[in-house]
Amino acid sequence: MTDATTRPSRTRADSQGRRAEDSHPSGDDRFLVIDKHLKRARFAQDQLIETLHVAQDVFGFLDESVLIYVARALRLPPSMVYGVATFYQLFTFDPPGDHTCTVCTGTACFVKGADDIVASVSDGYGIAAGATTEDGKLTLKTARCLGSCGLVPVVLLDGAVHGRESAAEVLEAVALLLESEPVAAGVEGGDG
Ligand code: FES
Repeated sequence: MTDATTRPSRTRADSQGRRAEDSHPSGDDRFLVIDKHLKRARFAQDQLIETLHVAQDVFGFLDESVLIYVARALRLPPSMVYGVATFYQLFTFDPPGDHTCTVCTGTACFVKGADDIVASVSDGYGIAAGATTEDGKLTLKTARCLGSCGLVPVVLLDGAVHGRESAAEVLEAVALLLESEPVAAGVEGGDG
């Protein structure tokens, strides 16, 4: 990891008059999105969780370099940032697959068979909740209440809400999903 990835970019002009804000010194402009959020939040340390959300949205997951970047920007110990990130199940530390199936396992969905859906997808693709298939095509997640309790059981397929579907119907929908183009990072939620 270069030092550039561990330090928020500052506003300055290079020899061509290009402002440093226009690109990130690391070469990965996704860090600019984090920088913008940090500036808006005035680098307030109590914005840690929100900042981690933003980072996960743009990168799709939180790796060590991103955690250290956030820690330095907020002047917090990396161990504290790591501790907070691992405490909350909604943060993920592995790259997601091309497609994501998030099954709500909140109480209302559980009562309507969410566990059967998780088991079907898990058995069908040989992955546990929270894991990604070996070919990197599908990640199976679980979440606690996706806020659509009127549609239970609720499943998000690449961020699209599927409600009131049986385990077999969800499996069919997942099969169709895998035939479609991969989605960009950061469109899915979940805790598993
Ligand atoms: S419990 Fe599943 S959407 Fe609310």
